[in-house]
Amino acid sequence: MPRLTVWMVRAALLQLGIGVTLGMLLLSTKGGLLDPRFWLLLGSHIELMVFGWLMQFALGVAYWILPRHTHEPRHGNTRLGWVGFVLMNAGVVLILASNWIPDLPALHPVGRLVELVAALALVWVLWPRVKAFGM
Ligand code: HEM
Repeated sequence: MPRLTVWMVRAALLQLGIGVTLGMLLLSTKGGLLDPRFWLLLGSHIELMVFGWLMQFALGVAYWILPRHTHEPRHGNTRLGWVGFVLMNAGVVLILASNWIPDLPALHPVGRLVELVAALALVWVLWPRVKAFGM
């Protein structure tokens, strides 16, 4: 497994753990066990589950599993892949921060922009490797 995949899967699992914990708190809130203010965690739960976990896990595993190039670098532009990984997690952190710092409204659009650039960078690396075997 390439090192980038190791880091992406670890980061994804970490965020799965935190996201599920928030999900359990939300479920308890829905059941009336916790103060309704716990609903404030919903945005963070969605962010961690959709971008931090699902998207990061899918792209990280794709980087490992898609057909490799026959020439070096066999996984494609590795440096751009690392940029995508760092930006993806920076974007998630910015969106989480924006949920808790309403006085900085720019955090949210900046976070989404960073996530978009991250996704584009990773797709740019992966796209040429989406091909039939033997091609
Ligand atoms: C891959 C796993 C998961 C993903 C992608 C995910 C994603 C989401 C999304 C997108 C929403 C917003 C739904 C809406 O507003 O209509 C949501 C809400 C919620 N999630 Fe998750 N979630 C996941 C796992 C979990 C788990 C494991 C729990 C509980 C242990 C949980 C508890 C909740 C609760 C309580 C809500 C609020 C539902 C409501 O509005 O009544 N989620 N989740």
